[in-house]
Amino acid sequence: MSTATQFAELQSGSERYAARVNPQWVRLLELLEMNVRYERCTGAELLTSEGKRVVDFLSGYCVHNVGHNHPYVVRALQEELQRSGPAMIQTHVADLAGELADRLCQRAGGRLRRAFFASSGSEGVEASIKFARAYTRRAGILAADHAFHGLTCGALSLMSDDFWRQGFGPLLPETKTVPFGSLDALERELKSKKFAAYIVEPIQSEAGVCVPAAGYLRDAQALCRRYGTLFVLDEVQTGMYRTGRFLAAHHFDVEPDMVILAKALSGGLVPVGAVLMSEEICDSVYSSLPRAFVHTSTFSENSLAMRAGLATLDVLENDNLGRRSMEAGEYLGNRLRAALGEFEMVKEVRGVGLLMGIEFQAPKQLRLRLPYEAFGAVHAGMFGQIVVMRLFRDFGFLTQVCGNNFMVLKVAPPLVIQDAEMDAFVGAVQRVVELANSPGAFWSEALGLARRAFRS
Ligand SMILES: Cc1ncc(COP(=O)(O)O)c(C=O)c1O
Repeated sequence: MSTATQFAELQSGSERYAARVNPQWVRLLELLEMNVRYERCTGAELLTSEGKRVVDFLSGYCVHNVGHNHPYVVRALQEELQRSGPAMIQTHVADLAGELADRLCQRAGGRLRRAFFASSGSEGVEASIKFARAYTRRAGILAADHAFHGLTCGALSLMSDDFWRQGFGPLLPETKTVPFGSLDALERELKSKKFAAYIVEPIQSEAGVCVPAAGYLRDAQALCRRYGTLFVLDEVQTGMYRTGRFLAAHHFDVEPDMVILAKALSGGLVPVGAVLMSEEICDSVYSSLPRAFVHTSTFSENSLAMRAGLATLDVLENDNLGRRSMEAGEYLGNRLRAALGEFEMVKEVRGVGLLMGIEFQAPKQLRLRLPYEAFGAVHAGMFGQIVVMRLFRDFGFLTQVCGNNFMVLKVAPPLVIQDAEMDAFVGAVQRVVELANSPGAFWSEALGLARRAFRS
């Protein structure tokens, strides 16, 4: 196919999408020079129609733990389709859901002995709100400041950042957030005994890859137990070996009452979500024969998602990707710290396993402070987006900044990432940060971006 034809196709594909789906999304990607057409995605590698190789350091926000289109998961799905088995019958017992629930609960351990399946993380959060209310007979739901739990109305009610909430209210009443890490603030709220659940990410991802102080989660759990509030972990990003263990909870010596999983659970190929919970919580919802189907969802337990989940667990475990995540995370973290330590704009490199973040900070030198503040006034995310744009355009690495903290670059490659790819990434980030530390090209790029944003 000639380059001209490829370009024409991209044009028409983007134009159709802009006309029929979301024109602003196309505008934004074009502004950031990231509107490429991906043709073949395997492992951590994405190939575009123009022959560019992009290495994925975002994993679709922790979806692609086993890498893109893992052949084992693809084969399992093909076989599931070919066997013409029961799918979406709705009035049957879904064997595969039982099998997947069994394997998930065994790995999760503790109180987590039942599963409810959903089709997304938000739907899992919604289910956990309902189950917590049913079990405790309380209405309130507590969450942590700057969390990300999803954009349906219930999940959104648990997110404090205005950007997501604005224009969509009124949201769910009796929801409140407390600072992540503050046991005093948590106890002050829990004391009211109004809260059914404290729903919290064990490591806050979009807030800036915030790893809690040792003991915070254990003490938060103890407080929840004292005041009759369920301790619920949103492991939509942190689960499925992303941080090295099956659940991030396993690093912190806690036994949550419920855990929400989604994203990586089905190998990045089929929408899925799951809420793991205790038998008592589950029984409080399905409490009698007439209530056997009181909380369901059409695509819950669908055979493709369940089959993909089983195959994904096989890959994660047979290939020891939990251990790989720990080792690779340590290697990458050390290399990033060594490469970036000297730059005043780099505040910290942190994370657990392959869920990492590089936090930037405002420069102190006046010659850098002036452009930094000028562009920050245009949009708070400007600095981070230029880092993302340069890593993509100039070095072929796909990254993003955290959704609720634009000063943190998320580093979350598929768990199958190779050492050589991590070495190249470290070199690229170092080069981009070097550029940001000189007043020239980096900042004129910002000017170009600002101009394009206002022109288009
Ligand atoms: C921690 C966390 N919880 C919940 C969600 C919502 O998941 P979904 O987008 O599948 O609805 C997300 C999405 O990014 C998330 O990061």
